[in-house]
Amino acid sequence: MVFASPLVTQCRIVVLLVLCLRGAPSPAPSAGCPERCVCDEQLVVQCSGQRLSSFPTNLPLVTRQLILSNNHIDELPALQLNYLSDLVYLDCSNNSIRDISESTFGNLRKLVYLDLSYNMFLKIEDQAFGPLSSLVMLRLTDNPLLSEIHPTAFAENVALQVLDLSRNNLTTLNVTSLITLPALRSLGFSGNPWNCVCEIEDLCLWMQIDTFRFQGNKITECMGRMRNKWFEKHLENKDNIPDHK
Ligand SMILES: *[C@@H]1O[C@H](CO)[C@@H](O)[C@H](O)[C@H]1NC(C)=O
Ligand SMILES: *[C@@H]1O[C@H](CO)[C@@H](O)[C@H](O)[C@H]1NC(C)=O
Ligand SMILES: *[C@@H]1O[C@H](CO)[C@@H](O)[C@H](O)[C@H]1NC(C)=O
Repeated sequence: MVFASPLVTQCRIVVLLVLCLRGAPSPAPSAGCPERCVCDEQLVVQCSGQRLSSFPTNLPLVTRQLILSNNHIDELPALQLNYLSDLVYLDCSNNSIRDISESTFGNLRKLVYLDLSYNMFLKIEDQAFGPLSSLVMLRLTDNPLLSEIHPTAFAENVALQVLDLSRNNLTTLNVTSLITLPALRSLGFSGNPWNCVCEIEDLCLWMQIDTFRFQGNKITECMGRMRNKWFEKHLENKDNIPDHK
């Protein structure tokens, strides 16, 4: 073991004190603020509409709210994002993001609100939102290319209350993992080209049983179509039309 001399120790204490005092007066971000963004004392970093083409660098590690909407960001880098372990609110709407994976939000255990609307997603992978155990609201609307969501994408989001999937390109959705989410109370499904047939029967049945969870008028329309298709399918068999209310 090596013991530091008292003088060295004293110097270290002085340096520590100076560093502490500098940081002490307010919890305001001390690590600077990204270029073209505004950082305030409430730990909000506002970068909306700044023509950013990549995720900002030099973000204060204590950031609680990060607003990146209306830019041209095409990637959420897992490494930089996961340094922000105090993040509660993340708005990435209206960018050009194509992919997220299990590691994207790996460390964001406090995140409550996530907006990924108006992006370029093609599909949502398995466990993409897996680590987000505090997530209450997820907005994933207006992704015109999004046609596939993995059955267990939301399976771990036990706090999820509101999920908005409106205006994507979804024809089907496996709701097995959604059905078991304990807090879920509102779902936006409108504006998708739902293929309302019995191949997604679990979705049909769930919609009929659990209508209170569904937002939007279109869903009623879809349910109507779904019922008709359901009948059509059975009419094709020409016998045994079930009593279907
Ligand atoms: C998306 O952002 C662009 C600027 O990058 C803006 O002109 C446009 O109005 C925004 N669209 C929406 C739907 O907010
Ligand atoms: C929507 O998905 C269908 C396949 O289900 C595909 O043929 C179509 O091109 C997609 N639309 C867009 C805008 O990508
Ligand atoms: C839905 O997903 C569950 C779990 O991943 C799977 O067991 C089931 O077979 C899927 N259902 C359909 C209709 O694909």
